[in-house]
Amino acid sequence: MNADEPTPDRILQLIFGYWATGVLGTAASHSLFTHLDAGVGTVEPLAARAGISVRGAQALLDGLVSLGLVEVRDGVYRNSAEAAAFLVEGRPTCLSAFAALKLGHLGSLAGLPDAVRDGGPANVATVEVVDNPHWENLVQAIAAQSVPVATIAADILRLADAGEVSILDVGGGSGVYSAIWLGLNPRARCTQLDWAPINSIARRLLAERGVGDRFASIDGDLHTADFGTAAYDVAVYSHIAHQEGPEDNMAVFAKLRAALKPGGTLVVNDYVVDDDRSGPPFALIFASEMLLKSRQGGTWRRAEYQSWLTKAGFDDVTFHPTPSPATLVIAR
Ligand SMILES: C[S@@+](CC[C@H](N)C(=O)[O-])C[C@H]1O[C@@H](n2cnc3c(N)ncnc32)[C@H](O)[C@@H]1O
Repeated sequence: MNADEPTPDRILQLIFGYWATGVLGTAASHSLFTHLDAGVGTVEPLAARAGISVRGAQALLDGLVSLGLVEVRDGVYRNSAEAAAFLVEGRPTCLSAFAALKLGHLGSLAGLPDAVRDGGPANVATVEVVDNPHWENLVQAIAAQSVPVATIAADILRLADAGEVSILDVGGGSGVYSAIWLGLNPRARCTQLDWAPINSIARRLLAERGVGDRFASIDGDLHTADFGTAAYDVAVYSHIAHQEGPEDNMAVFAKLRAALKPGGTLVVNDYVVDDDRSGPPFALIFASEMLLKSRQGGTWRRAEYQSWLTKAGFDDVTFHPTPSPATLVIAR
């Protein structure tokens, strides 16, 4: 066979790709990476510690070795460097809850052919509503992706040394930006706008971190809520633009510009696509997730962010890579 001829290997790997989500999400839900990190490295003790069958533990470990997340030598298993850094529970950047959450979403993928045909989800009336339990599960799981981004944004904005600053986080979820920024700057104050059940999760988490006295929340829908006028130095809109269509993003950016003081800064964090839609890979494939789950969402191009933000009244728009699949957009 000619070495340049295509083979079916990669396509078969892609067809079976759901096993990666399955094995990783299952290992995360049984805390396998955490037990391995604690030094439980052989099959039977690991099964006993995790409360799972020996047969199940062996199958999971085989799958994890196949995925390169676990290494085995002489019958002893240990986390790869990646798994040790990002899948051991108890660290702010741990992605295990997100992996378990995504395993739960696998079944919904069967609806993608219909969503592609119809141009959106079948249950459009129930997706983007306050009582969708999806949000409560999602906001804590996604926070691990926001931790490094919030830290980078704080550096760019020199928030730690900014003194008394007033911050608005629209769709703040778990309050992860507030938690990090209030921790860095003892004179900062944050206000989060989100739905009531989500705000109560954020208030609990912020109180646990000892910064709850500088955190306020407004319960409401970001499409209709009043964001105020010239009230904030910094505003945040993270992991939201992808669920909204162009018109709604433009309307939100205009409200955010008005809510900021003159010279204030907007921080947008999202999966931004190159202008010719040739990459990056994560942002491109995430468009299908939004097709399946949102009325008008998608992954938007740099040029779209630039144009929407300029129309909203921002003069200076810059794009910054992050260690997550998202790009930081800073608008002043
Ligand atoms: C993907 S999470 C992002 C959370 C956080 N900003 C982050 O980056 O980690 C989306 C957040 O937006 C909130 N949200 C979505 N649609 C909303 C709406 N119409 N009004 C208010 N909040 C909304 C959800 O409750 C959730 O907290």
